[in-house]
Amino acid sequence: MSSVRIVHEPADKVRDIYTWSKSAKAEVKKILAKYPKDQSRSAVIPLLHLAQREFDGWLPTKLMNLVAETLDMPYIRVYEVATFYTMFNLAPVGKYHVQVCTNCACMIRGSDKILEAVEKLTGAKAGESSADEMFTVSEVECLGACVNAPMMQVNDHYYTDLDAESAKEVLTALKEGKTPKVGSQVKEAS
Ligand code: FES
Repeated sequence: MSSVRIVHEPADKVRDIYTWSKSAKAEVKKILAKYPKDQSRSAVIPLLHLAQREFDGWLPTKLMNLVAETLDMPYIRVYEVATFYTMFNLAPVGKYHVQVCTNCACMIRGSDKILEAVEKLTGAKAGESSADEMFTVSEVECLGACVNAPMMQVNDHYYTDLDAESAKEVLTALKEGKTPKVGSQVKEAS
């Protein structure tokens, strides 16, 4: 299981400056409207999600600083949240972030075979990206879909009731720019 989150911020992947786009500003306003004015810091998780979606799928320090400034929070408070939750990527990820659950229910139902198949097909071990930067593979804790174990999450979608073959079919379809036909896509993850 991965328990330590190591941050790599390759200089060529970090932008000089991060500012909200017009549409993101509107989204920030919408999110903040859900919280009492003196509790806007409670919006840190949705804002980190928005920032990650808006800018390249990961959260460099400068981007976390933008979230902190937006919420008038100390930078360190935002870092604490972002580094705690595995749904926040602290290093660049590929076009498809493949998160294979290897927690109890999935493990009992064969998640080791899923991870093995994913690593073989992508050529990336857990914690790595494929050479073509198409896939990043992560081994994660329970994603709350135990009843349909084993499962994996690819970007915002869940693929459940998998075996090694169906996991490979999902990734092959994505690689070919197609919509995967296998596995049940039970819900949007965020
Ligand atoms: S143990 Fe894998 S989704 Fe819960």
